[in-house]
Amino acid sequence: MDVQYRSAALKDVPAIREVGIATWWATYSGLLAPQAIAAVLRRGWRDEVIRGQINHDAYHVLVAEVEEEVTGVLFARLPQVQAPAMIERLYVRPDAQGHGLGYGLWRTLVERLPQAVQAVELDVLASNAKAIAFYQRIGFVEASRFVESVAGFPMHLIYMRASRPFV
Ligand SMILES: CC(C)(COP(=O)(O)OP(=O)(O)OC[C@H]1O[C@@H](n2cnc3c(N)ncnc32)[C@H](O)[C@@H]1OP(=O)(O)O)[C@@H](O)C(=O)NCCC(=O)NCCS
Repeated sequence: MDVQYRSAALKDVPAIREVGIATWWATYSGLLAPQAIAAVLRRGWRDEVIRGQINHDAYHVLVAEVEEEVTGVLFARLPQVQAPAMIERLYVRPDAQGHGLGYGLWRTLVERLPQAVQAVELDVLASNAKAIAFYQRIGFVEASRFVESVAGFPMHLIYMRASRPFV
């Protein structure tokens, strides 16, 4: 599979939103209430939010393109001082999962991290076993657990951390 990894541009916003919508429904139907999924997509995957993060100095927004089509996305927030970076979203379209795109996005982020960043953190739904297995394979370990309320529904999350040297 011919995959290009690059920084997102403003022209990618609609395609990034489509990846988010398709992958959220496929991943979380059965794990989260439909109202919670709809609320996250409405709030977090709006064009203005995606555009704002692409334009923001503190963010790396990366895309994986397969045959010139945005197929995977990674959003990471970089710290202002020496602190961990935070992966806020990592989504690969359902029909393209398991072909190395998630790993490729992760490695693209790692190559761009300033040396001062010693660790990367993220949170993942505790029932999302596939994603947890993927993160463990690339060196993330559980740091803590917490519960967040989304649209009135509890979301059980695991906070994970990977430290240098990154896999
Ligand atoms: C979790 C997710 C991002 C992983 O991305 P992916 O593209 O499906 O995963 P990959 O194909 O990159 O990784 C799968 C395997 O290849 C490995 N791999 C892939 N390319 C590799 C490479 N070049 N070198 C070494 N290992 C590699 C991975 O470590 C992993 O190991 P495995 O063979 O034991 O399965 C993706 O499945 C996804 O979007 N899932 C649904 C949404 C989701 O849950 N996102 C996370 C929210 S917190």
